[in-house]
Amino acid sequence: MPPSFTRFSATVRPEGAFTVLAMARRLSASGKDVIELEIGDSPFPSPDCAVEAGIQAIRDGRTTYGPSAGLPEFRAAAAAYVNAEHGLSVSAENVVAGPGAKTFEQLFCEAFLEPDDGVLVFSPYFPTYPANIARRGARMVLSSLRAARAFRPDLDDVRRFLQEDPRPKGIFLNSPHNPTGGVTTEEDLQGLADLIRGRDIAVFSDEPYDCMVWDGRHQSLLAQPGMLDQTVAAYTFSKSFSMSGWRLGYAVSSPDTVNVFDLLTNTALSCVPPFTQAAGIAALQDGRQYRDGRMREFHRKVQLLVAGLNAVEGVSCLAPGGTFYVFPSVAAICNRDTITSHGLAMYLLEGADDALGVACLGGECFGEAGGGFLRLSCAQPDDRLTVAVAFLADATTRRDRIAAYLDTHPEYRLATPYATS
Ligand SMILES: Cc1ncc(COP(=O)(O)O)c(C=O)c1O
Repeated sequence: MPPSFTRFSATVRPEGAFTVLAMARRLSASGKDVIELEIGDSPFPSPDCAVEAGIQAIRDGRTTYGPSAGLPEFRAAAAAYVNAEHGLSVSAENVVAGPGAKTFEQLFCEAFLEPDDGVLVFSPYFPTYPANIARRGARMVLSSLRAARAFRPDLDDVRRFLQEDPRPKGIFLNSPHNPTGGVTTEEDLQGLADLIRGRDIAVFSDEPYDCMVWDGRHQSLLAQPGMLDQTVAAYTFSKSFSMSGWRLGYAVSSPDTVNVFDLLTNTALSCVPPFTQAAGIAALQDGRQYRDGRMREFHRKVQLLVAGLNAVEGVSCLAPGGTFYVFPSVAAICNRDTITSHGLAMYLLEGADDALGVACLGGECFGEAGGGFLRLSCAQPDDRLTVAVAFLADATTRRDRIAAYLDTHPEYRLATPYATS
């Protein structure tokens, strides 16, 4: 008999976007035209300066192990970058390199959480948070983000968590927020800092979309007095510099926390490839103009998608304050046709038409609070976005086809109507 797997492994769920991506690719391979709005990946090439620096570093033989915390020059470049961009005053010793932003979720939990500790998570949430919190046997405590508050965190929930939870220890914050596009304001961050300052509370501040704030500038909790000691902010090259496949990111925190992350990185990954970091340094130093051009493109695409979706019967879409996602409410359509929002997304991909499909995600891929919404990424050419909106408008009027899809997929039948306000 093969050895049994852990109970933990049985609870792990993949990021929904990757599952839908696989299905979209299967349908495409079988000849269907699929407009892929499911995954948050840039359609743009990595900046030339980064590509050249990466290739040169490989040619120069920078293909061996490096320090677990990252190359000193990478850490210094990242510190200079966040100082200039986010008004911080950190140095290389405040920075640790990682393969993207995602692994820092796990390292944060390993660094700060004991079994049964409470961790406040704003819902909907990035789908890999639960597995990383569960890895340490900690408890996820949810606070809903509401459209009526532009999906900003509710500080009353934070206060309640701190007062009432038997073992409050961690908070996962993500701004700009995936999937809703909500942006936590400076006032929110001040309020949050005032609530936790000096307490045994650590914040994982997930900031992959720091360059995608559409009104004003990105604000990091790190900039609030005293918060460097209580916060781990995670950044990535995936979104700002179109470098998701290079797997490069970094976290910023106090030197003590960085030392612990250094150890944890050593035992899990050894290091991030030096040539990847060389590419990252070039992007940080010479790729900002490239970055800003791409960010403007994303913003324009977001506006295009929001305007299109708001013209569709039964759809209502807030303009996101940041990110390249839109998060329209489709609750009216779901309630009318008794289909879940995930079911509606699946219908748009595989059920609505034999030749064309739109791949997007039901909001519940990000937790129950996302039910009644869809998440669409805008990382496609403008004409494809326009076709996708027209397709959605038409497909959601074809009620007989939705009913037929539900007959063959009863698991997508909506049991309780979604709230519509
Ligand atoms: C909120 C959030 N955190 C983390 C990540 C992971 O990013 P990376 O590619 O840098 O690991 C993403 C990517 O979509 C994200 O949206």
